[in-house]
Amino acid sequence: MKAIVFTEYGSTDVLQLTEVPTPVPGDDEVLVKVHAASINDWDWAYMHGEPFFTRVFTGFLKPRLNIRIPGCDIAGQVEAVGKNVERFQAGDNVYGDLCQSGFGAFAEYVCAPETALAPMASGMTFNQAASIPQAAMLTVQGLFDAGNLQAGQKLLINGAGGGVGTFGVQIARTMGVEITAVDSSIKLDMLRSLGADHVIDYREEDFTRNGRHYDVILDTRTKRSILDCARSLSPHGVYATVGGSMPRIVQALLLGPWISRRSKKKIRVVALKPNKDLAYMNELFEAGKVTPVMDGPYPLSEVPEALRYFGKAEHKGKVIITIV
Ligand SMILES: NC(=O)c1ccc[n+]([C@@H]2O[C@H](COP(=O)([O-])OP(=O)(O)OC[C@H]3O[C@@H](n4cnc5c(N)ncnc54)[C@H](OP(=O)(O)O)[C@@H]3O)[C@@H](O)[C@H]2O)c1
Repeated sequence: MKAIVFTEYGSTDVLQLTEVPTPVPGDDEVLVKVHAASINDWDWAYMHGEPFFTRVFTGFLKPRLNIRIPGCDIAGQVEAVGKNVERFQAGDNVYGDLCQSGFGAFAEYVCAPETALAPMASGMTFNQAASIPQAAMLTVQGLFDAGNLQAGQKLLINGAGGGVGTFGVQIARTMGVEITAVDSSIKLDMLRSLGADHVIDYREEDFTRNGRHYDVILDTRTKRSILDCARSLSPHGVYATVGGSMPRIVQALLLGPWISRRSKKKIRVVALKPNKDLAYMNELFEAGKVTPVMDGPYPLSEVPEALRYFGKAEHKGKVIITIV
């Protein structure tokens, strides 16, 4: 089969389109013919071998032999199943995030444990399905498990124009929440059209210094001081970060308990639970409440170009790879 393989860490030049053996499913695994995949920040980080401590999991000097095909999010058709697999059979359309099961999405076939997969919603295309798993799980777990978002509240999403935020604006819109979306100017019209009530260009205005307060802040690109973010919360507000600068995330972990002791505000760092809420996303999709925002698609051979584009952060929503 064809796959994007890398044998050393570095920029997109390390990625090669190569022929590799088609994997064979173990007893608990499903072999999926991949029709679409999408790009996530973790693919970018994994390719660069950064932050350095993540090499404990991926290999210190070089990526380990068994995880040399990047890509987390897949959508495709079940080709074969191992003898213990109960939920799926050949021909089923499935999707999921493989970040805890060896990556491997940028290939014609991949093996995945059945627990990493869910059936695709009816009417969902492979490209739409591939855009959902990692970004939408961070959104749902950030807004609800960490943020406890309720109808009628004021929500701010920082870095709203990417995968997490474009799902976040659409999901919050279904709940009668007042939404402020923060991103660069080229993404603000799109965010308004998805349902944002207010938009802020972060290059023009610092949301932590405009005097406004929010019940929930969902941050996909934590760059500002956590104390400043906490000051932008309403008295019982929750700040939930899913990612951003590592020193800021550490600051959130260290200062969060102290801020909660001194006030009723909460600071939370979301740890992704892959694939946990795919059934909920299927419900929203089938009810017409969420339509993934997609950029591309790019063919498998153009994964390096697609990752370069993703690295420039000019994309809107999710960057899609199609594998026919
Ligand atoms: N917590 C976990 O377990 C976990 C697991 C996986 C991934 N993650 C993290 O979750 C995040 C995923 O977010 P995503 O998929 O939505 O990313 P994304 O698609 O890259 O979108 C991020 C958006 O933020 C904007 N941005 C950049 N700098 C900004 C700033 N200073 N202020 C406001 N906006 C800014 C970017 O646009 P411009 O650059 O054009 O401004 C882009 O539109 C990543 O940080 C990733 O590392 C966390």
